[in-house]
Amino acid sequence: MVSYKDLGLVNTNEMFKKAMEGRYAVPAYNFNNMEQMQAIMQACVETKSPVILQVSSGARKYANSTLLRNMAKGAVEYVKELGYEIPIALHLDHGDTFELCKDCVDNGFSSVMIDGSHHSFEDNIALTKKVVDYAHQHDVTVEGELGQLAGVEDDVSAEKSTYTKPEEVIEFVNKTGVDSLAISIGTSHGANKFTPEQCTRNDEGVLVPPPLRFDILEEIEKKLPGFVIVLHGSSSVPQDIVKIINDHGGALKDTIGIPEDQLRRAAQSAVCKINIDSDGRLAMTAAVRKVFVEKPAEFDPRKFLGPARDALKELYKHKNNNVLGSAGKA
Ligand code: G3H
Ligand code: 13P
Ligand code: ZN
Repeated sequence: MVSYKDLGLVNTNEMFKKAMEGRYAVPAYNFNNMEQMQAIMQACVETKSPVILQVSSGARKYANSTLLRNMAKGAVEYVKELGYEIPIALHLDHGDTFELCKDCVDNGFSSVMIDGSHHSFEDNIALTKKVVDYAHQHDVTVEGELGQLAGVEDDVSAEKSTYTKPEEVIEFVNKTGVDSLAISIGTSHGANKFTPEQCTRNDEGVLVPPPLRFDILEEIEKKLPGFVIVLHGSSSVPQDIVKIINDHGGALKDTIGIPEDQLRRAAQSAVCKINIDSDGRLAMTAAVRKVFVEKPAEFDPRKFLGPARDALKELYKHKNNNVLGSAGKA
């Protein structure tokens, strides 16, 4: 048994309490390798932001869970060495079984998500409660999910979204004891969120997707006052980054993400955790493609992974400063 407490990590209780009071959202950034970890930590140190380091089961398969855990431990030491104090949580993203969540609790994770959203309401409650009962014995916090996002999340895929039903949230939270709840209000996973045909043009000619269902969020907030809400699928798919990729040999579809002003509004509500992964993937891809096109003789990985890391860091600093409002809150 490796306790997250021995690694210097924290669970999400305190960081969410502060985020709720301060009306901002804590960034939850996925990592699979060292460059992503460096970018996340450099961005959060430079902006003085709390951070949730997210590991999906795909990341565990790709990079090995022990290596990832020790990178999180290293992140704690790195911040300390710099003389900063930043709360860092290590979180399982989209856990789909009790066994996977237990393995993470037993191996240094301070927070886990059990995503039973593709099960029936009753089975979701039973599975989530089982995880909560085990995780809470070890002071590990648990995120559950009600409603389904469109797009692909790890091994689970949902063709179309099903919005969270506000009338179900009280029973779900009371019966499971979860610490936070991921909801579906119109965000979706991946880079292909909305086609241009699904969007309208604003006065400046910019394509704008259908707005998030803030009415559902508000109903949920009324039913669960002060309860922590989580938004997945919150990448904005920056058009300038998509253009760099496609101008350098990429073949991304025309696609629109969640506008930043919508996320800013969400971050000021009961939404205390916002998950972003795809935007980071896009930023890294753009930087790597640029190097490959502009310097075709380059073959030192540091010469393309370095720019990818730096682009990711700048993107995450922007998110903390201008979208989530988490800068200066560590
Ligand atoms: O929601 C899923 C995250 O973006 C993680 O993606 O399962 O490909 O690691 P992944
Ligand atoms: P995006 O694909 O929109 O970045 O969402 C990531 C996510 O929800 C991770 O759980
Ligand atoms: Zn997600």
